[in-house]
Formats: sequence, C-alpha cells, structure tokens
Amino acid sequence: MLERRQFLGLLAAAAAATAVGGCASEVGAPPGTTVGATPGTPPPPFDPSRGYWMQGGFAPVAEEVTLTDLPVRGALPSTLSGLYVRNGSNPKVGDSPHWFLGDGMVHGVQFEGGRPVWYRNRWVRTPFVEEGLGGLDAPPGGARNQSNVSIGWHGGRLLTMGEVGWPYELSPEDLSTVGAHDFAGKLTTAMTAHPKIDPATGELHFFGYGFVPPFLTYHVADASGALVHSSEIPIQASTMIHDFAITDRDVVFWDLPVLFDLQAGIQMVTGATGAMPYRWTPANGARLGVMPLGGTGEQIRWVEIDPCYVFHGTNAFRDGDDVVLDVCRLEHAFTETEDLGVSTPHRWRIDTSTMAFTDEPRGDLPMDLPAIDRRVAGRPYRHGWYVEVDEAAAQPLELAGIRWMDHDSGETAAWRPDAGVHANEVVFVPEDDGEGEGWLLTYAYDANRGASDLVVLDATDVAAGPVGAVELPVRVPYGFHGTWVPA
Ligand SMILES: [Fe+2]
Repeated sequence: MLERRQFLGLLAAAAAATAVGGCASEVGAPPGTTVGATPGTPPPPFDPSRGYWMQGGFAPVAEEVTLTDLPVRGALPSTLSGLYVRNGSNPKVGDSPHWFLGDGMVHGVQFEGGRPVWYRNRWVRTPFVEEGLGGLDAPPGGARNQSNVSIGWHGGRLLTMGEVGWPYELSPEDLSTVGAHDFAGKLTTAMTAHPKIDPATGELHFFGYGFVPPFLTYHVADASGALVHSSEIPIQASTMIHDFAITDRDVVFWDLPVLFDLQAGIQMVTGATGAMPYRWTPANGARLGVMPLGGTGEQIRWVEIDPCYVFHGTNAFRDGDDVVLDVCRLEHAFTETEDLGVSTPHRWRIDTSTMAFTDEPRGDLPMDLPAIDRRVAGRPYRHGWYVEVDEAAAQPLELAGIRWMDHDSGETAAWRPDAGVHANEVVFVPEDDGEGEGWLLTYAYDANRGASDLVVLDATDVAAGPVGAVELPVRVPYGFHGTWVPA
C-alpha cells in the first residue's frame, strides 16, 4: 500500500489544481471533516406524523436521470474502472407503508480510469412498476416482488434481489432491466438478498425462505451461474431470515424469532394496514444451524441460543472445530412498538464437536450494514466496515459515518462526517493483494446541499475521511446494499 499512498499523494497534489466544485485540499483532511459540503438549504425538520422513510435522506426521488460531466472533488484513484451500483427502496407512486416496501431503484456510477463517466438511477422493471400498482397487491413471490434490497455480480449477470421472490437481471451497460431471473426455471423458491460467493470456487451459495412450506431451502449455483444444487432445510415456522454465512466448509443459518404473520400479510397486501407482517415471537425460540458447504438439509445440526435478531452477519470462518461468526445483533425486532432496533457487534462461536455456543459482545457502538473484502469471505479475516447510526437524531433511524473494526483486536476507528452528511453502506473495491487494501465506495447524503456525493475512502485509513468524491447534483435516497462490477 505504500506505493499506492505515495501515488495518491501525487494524485492529490495534481487534483488540487484541477478539482471542480470543491476543495481538493481536503484530501488527507483530519478526522471529522467532510469533503466539500456546498452550503445550501437544509431539509425541513423531521415530522413525526409521517413515516421516517418518506423524509430527509430517506425520501424517494421522482425521476430517473442520466448525468454526465460529473464534478469531482479531491483525488479519485486512477485505478478505479468499473461500475458502483446500489439498490434501495423507492416507491414509484411516491409513498409506501414501510421503508422495506418501496419499488427497487438502483443508482450507479460508471468509472473509467478514476473518471466518473455517468450516473444513472433506474427502477427495476418489476410488474409493480410496469403496471403502476404502487405496491404489493398479493403476497410476493416469483417475479412478483419489488427486488429492492441488494444487487450482485455473478456468472456474468448483474442481479437485483428482494428476498421474497426471484432476482432481476439488469444490464451493467445502462442499468435497464433484462427481466426476472429464475436460473433457467430451476429456482422454485425466493432468493435471499445476501448470497455468498465462495472465493475459492466462484460458487454462489444462497437460500430462499417461504411464507408457506418449504420454509427454508439452500441453493448453490456454479461459477457460471447455473443452479446445480438445492436442498430443503427443515425448520418449524416461517421466520424472517435475511442473511446467512459460509466458511470454507460450512453453511451457517440463523433461525430467529421474527415470524411471518399470515393474517397481517393479507391485511398488508389488501391495504388494510401498513404494518410489516412479521412479529417478534420469542416463544418460537432461537437457533443456529451448521451444515456442510454444498450439503443437504438432513446434515444440519442446530444449537439453541437466547432470543435475539440479526439482519446481517459480517463474516464467518473456521478456527479448528469452531465456527466463528461475527454478527450485528439486535435484542429484538418487529415488536409491537419498534420494528428496527439498534444492533451492536457480537462474535459467536459454535464448537462443532459439541455444538456448544458462546456469545462475545464486542462493544456497544451501534452499527450495521457490514462490508468486508469479499476475497476473504468465509475465511479468517480482520477488517470489517460498518455504517454507524446517529442515536441522537430526532427520527427513529438516522445514518451517520463509517466505522472500521479490526476483528482480531476489536480496535475501531471512524470517519465522522460533518453535521448533515450521512453515509450509507460501503462496498470494498480491491487495489492490492492484501486483505483490506483498497477503496470503500458509498453514497453520502449531504443535507446541507440537498444532494449526494459518491465518496471514496482509503479502506486502510477510514478515519482520514474521503480521498475524493463525485459530487452528484441529485440526491440518492438512503438504500440498502450495493456491489462493484469491475471493468
Ligand atoms: Fe441486508
């Protein structure tokens, strides 16, 4: 990385003379500073009578745009060539009953040699968007889902995923929708928004959960994207399973007590209520299951744990007989008064020789939306990057800065942006061979100018703040998960 840092220094010096629309001298600025917020009009104060997801940085945008000649501040790495693209919830009709229930909209920036070529935002052309329905009209499934959670690149396909149906294939050229993708008719369940690519084989491991049996099914696609293995995993009820983990030899599921409520689901799709049809049900118990990578449901072994909820795992790996699993743990979720709570990092260990379980809290800093260097997915690793939440905000959920965590030592460091600037999930883009040697890309909403930047951080020095940014003239609403498609 030393060579790269020296190169960066030269690049920054050059950019200082040429930066457009901002102050290039902010490169290498001390922690707590922001790359170039242009003074503007702050958004109106939070209105508690309306959904938080309809306001501030969450509020949906009304138009699809294609923008070129994008201003750059600071120094973007000249090695950056590819597509950064992120999915999120953006109701086409302008309103939705929950943050999770808008139509999928992707926001992408194409780079060539460190130069931003274009920005595009596009709705995923699901039936709900095409038919102008403005939301679900029946329980989602198959092609009828909003495909709004994540986007991934595998087997030469760019796929958006919405957890409760099939993925959609998009063109990486212009983010237009190719169509629903059911793996040549082989995918008979939904597909999680958090599949895992095994870096050793290129295989895509994923699962689908169902509102009716089968409640959980494990799938493997080979490196070319062909679905080659599916196996039902027996669980007792329809629980919301947002993510899972792999190691170099295991698959790890968490079956936690957020249960699908059929009656509430019917009420939601008929418009009788806007509540998400999931209920915190600790009486259902909580358990972790471990099975061989590529294995079958009969091989899974479970261990009971205390009720809690986990949307996202950071990574998992083998340590001898132990499966080590880093998660963002919530005390509960979808209770009567609070659907999304605050999560903190925990390290879980399952001794596969005895199925003994240990839970090690790793601090009380609220953070989620983890990212890793995906070259070490399922392997021993050190570096994780998270979005911090602002617990002091007036609204129920507000995003803040980016925190790095060394998972060996527990040490952390953060980029704390200026007031009014809110970062989203980062995506790691490799630069050098070592784990974590590369860049972090994310959209950061700058309320001071009512628009968003695509900021780039040095993954090895998050606290230094962004090395550069693409200043978009539009706002990118807070979203969920993104990916990098190398050129
Ligand atoms: Fe997620």
